[in-house]
Amino acid sequence: MSICWLNGEFLPLEDAKIHVLDRGFIFGDSIYEVIPVYGGKLFRLEEHLQRLINNLAAVKIDPKLNVQELRGLLEALVEHNGSGDLSVYVQVSRGVAARDHAFPELCLATIFAMANPLVGCSEKTLSEGASAITLDDIRWRYCHIKTTSLLANILLRQQALEEDATEAILIRDGLVTEGAASNLFLVVDTVLLTPPKSTFLLPGITRDLILELATKQNIAYKECDIEQSTLNSASEIWLSSSTKEIVPVTRLNGKQVGNGKPGNLWVQMNTHFQNYKDKVRQGLIN
Ligand code: PDD
Repeated sequence: MSICWLNGEFLPLEDAKIHVLDRGFIFGDSIYEVIPVYGGKLFRLEEHLQRLINNLAAVKIDPKLNVQELRGLLEALVEHNGSGDLSVYVQVSRGVAARDHAFPELCLATIFAMANPLVGCSEKTLSEGASAITLDDIRWRYCHIKTTSLLANILLRQQALEEDATEAILIRDGLVTEGAASNLFLVVDTVLLTPPKSTFLLPGITRDLILELATKQNIAYKECDIEQSTLNSASEIWLSSSTKEIVPVTRLNGKQVGNGKPGNLWVQMNTHFQNYKDKVRQGLIN
């Protein structure tokens, strides 16, 4: 049975109850994080906590817990759930108040965290690659904030699934932004490309690690605006996220990407990523 944290206590997930007037439920007025756990070790925890704190500040939610307290509760949550390979979800909403768009004067943030088994990418996807379609980026203009108001992302992902693709790659004003729940990388002329951080995409923790590994391994990369035509002619396309890590895309809008197999640079980067993960698992790095 999975144990979660809700407003100061650990309890079985089935027993956790949220008030119907919680602004997270009524308005999607909340911020969240998804943190992978390998062998009981929260992966890139400091980076996830910093993004959580930044996002809460951006929407003026005071969690009334500091970073040390948040770190402590997540570490304890992992222990309560067997310390294996997990996906930790944490959500902080503005709290419970009579329905009114304006911020309530007195409101205590709701803090909820749960741990689920980590479901990574399937072996089939890793060996054959995934498929993606391009869709118009219909989301709002604050895509750098990791809010639970995800209706546009949900509709985009669902459309991709209904068209036999695993992800929607989003295009805003002719430029590629990211996936519905992932960041995007391309390989063009052996150089790794990714759109620069802006308010139009989430500053992914996996994205940052890929660039860090590229620097360490002397893999040439560029953060630059990417037009749809560049996406269409890329020899490799990858999607990155905390739960699926680095996913090679071998079909875009029904057409083969590169030679139709996960590319050489993906194989290299995925090896570096897995080595990094193994070191975290063994406690050699944080
Ligand atoms: N989503 N962009 C969007 C829109 C995302 O939702 C995500 C991750 C990413 C990748 O960020 P990171 O590497 O920090 O996971 C980029 C998570 C996993 C989710 O919503 O479940």
